[in-house]
Amino acid sequence: MNIYGASGHGKVIIDIAESIDIIIDQIFDDNRNVVLLNERVVTHELNKNFLDSDTIIAIGNNIIRKRVTNSFTGNVSDAIIHKSAIISPNANLKNGTVVMSNACVNSSTVIGKQCIINTASTIDHDCELADYVHISPNAAIAGNVIIEEGTHVGIGAVVIPGIKIGKWVTIGAGAVIIRDVPDYAVVVGNPGKIIKYLNK
Ligand SMILES: CC(C)(COP(=O)(O)OP(=O)(O)OC[C@H]1O[C@@H](n2cnc3c(N)ncnc32)[C@H](O)[C@@H]1OP(=O)(O)O)[C@@H](O)C(=O)NCCC(=O)NCCS
Repeated sequence: MNIYGASGHGKVIIDIAESIDIIIDQIFDDNRNVVLLNERVVTHELNKNFLDSDTIIAIGNNIIRKRVTNSFTGNVSDAIIHKSAIISPNANLKNGTVVMSNACVNSSTVIGKQCIINTASTIDHDCELADYVHISPNAAIAGNVIIEEGTHVGIGAVVIPGIKIGKWVTIGAGAVIIRDVPDYAVVVGNPGKIIKYLNK
């Protein structure tokens, strides 16, 4: 498997791969100043071998991950899941999604492509997460929650059951979401309040 993006996020993807005995073939970054990632050589060319193997797009920023995915001509890997994560057999995770250590995804939850389910986050039953969503470490998403494309749920945030969160929303660290959130909103605090909207 290849990794596209030699960042700190890429290091965590290496840990996921190693936990499930996946061998990393190549690591690519377009920044020529980045030459090593965890002592592994970083390539700056998308050669045929790279494009022919499965790749994880290891870019933490949701909008940049979407742009790179849309222009990438290689094969995106199936979801990869850290050995210590607990995923219900009835959950469905689409390709390119990464699940980090100690995360938990419960029954009948559907997670789109290229999502990040970060360390020790929990996503309960019957949730629907669209593509390019990032659930940060220790965030807790209760059952029957809908999260639209590109939304970032900050570290340690909590979302109560049945909430609908729009697309490209930013939920601040530690926020408690008790009401639906419209597209592009930035929400912070307990209870969560909208402080601004991001430019579409
Ligand atoms: C919500 C967030 C994106 C806002 O960032 P920002 O747009 O740069 O906002 P600012 O830092 O200018 O703060 C704006 C106001 O919101 C408040 N605020 C910002 N983040 C907050 C938070 N998480 N909880 C409570 N209040 C917060 C600030 O105190 C400030 O209030 P003031 O206007 O009364 O002084 C950011 O603070 C945040 O929480 N990011 C989460 C990052 C994260 O979890 N990353 C995980 C990576 S794995």
